[in-house]
Amino acid sequence: MTNIRIGLLGIGTVGAGTFQVLKRNQQEISRRAGRGIDIAVVADLNAERARQIVGDDVEVVSDARSVVARPDIDVVIELIGGYGIARELVLAAIESGKHVVTANKALLAVHGTEIFAAAARKGVIVAYEAAVAGGIPIVKALREGLVANRVQWVAGIINGTTNFILSEMRDKGLDFQAVLKQAQQLGYAEADPTFDIEGIDAAHKITLLSAIAFGIPVQFDKAYVEGITALHRPDIRYAEQLGYRIKLLGVAKRTERGVELRVHPTLIPAKRLIASVEGAMNAVVVKGDAVGTTLYYGQGAGAEPTASAVIADLVDIARLQGADASHQVPALAYHHDCQPAEAP
Ligand code: HSE
Repeated sequence: MTNIRIGLLGIGTVGAGTFQVLKRNQQEISRRAGRGIDIAVVADLNAERARQIVGDDVEVVSDARSVVARPDIDVVIELIGGYGIARELVLAAIESGKHVVTANKALLAVHGTEIFAAAARKGVIVAYEAAVAGGIPIVKALREGLVANRVQWVAGIINGTTNFILSEMRDKGLDFQAVLKQAQQLGYAEADPTFDIEGIDAAHKITLLSAIAFGIPVQFDKAYVEGITALHRPDIRYAEQLGYRIKLLGVAKRTERGVELRVHPTLIPAKRLIASVEGAMNAVVVKGDAVGTTLYYGQGAGAEPTASAVIADLVDIARLQGADASHQVPALAYHHDCQPAEAP
């Protein structure tokens, strides 16, 4: 079988991680995919930096639009982020019949309905394991492993930056701004860290998980969102004295009135497993009617954990391409077994 040819858009933290992991584990990944995976072209506004990362063997361009139009590219990996050019490129890639892998939770939480509908029309896959909880395969768990269940609720620590900030403030008594700076240096934070600390990034992610778990449209505007900026060290200390930890949780819950979506700091009894999730680690708990409670834990941010999820989606597509890939699409479509609640 011929190699699958990739156009990689954006080679920042996650893009560079994806390139490195693909290179390092090339043989195993290709064997598991059943065919070779070639990064054929990388597009980045900073072509010089891109060249330093990928060397001379890979074509580097600064115009991402030229990549999505190329007939020799099978799959576009979108790692630019944001709602603007990323939306245009993803829609253009779909229109030209390409599968898309993206880590862009903001884009999908806000424009998912449009994007998934376009993908369904064209019979291509938009895969987004890397958009939620970094390296934890929670999208696959909900879509595949738990598919038999009527999900009752999903709740989790799904933003590594804020969990890192809360952990460091508690353990080391450090100042909020100083820890945020560290999170940025470690590659955990969003380009605009307001998305992290105001709970917006977690709300994007819980919106996506709710769409899979409950078969509802992606409705970011229905989520209640509260971040960690009003928390101070004494809050964290008092919580601890009372036997609790403060965690920023994303919650999606089936209720009689529809699905409740919310993100806010939560007091969690210290003896609960999820209370001991520290640093940039993420954890997601899913309660299904058949399986009961299940817990997924791992690195929720950072270059290689997120790359691990990007490549998992690539391998899925490589396995499916040539077969009838369109059978994947209904899993992304909504079956409306539950209505979203009104915004609180
Ligand atoms: N800024 C995000 C986080 C990156 O801290 O979790 C991973 O989605």
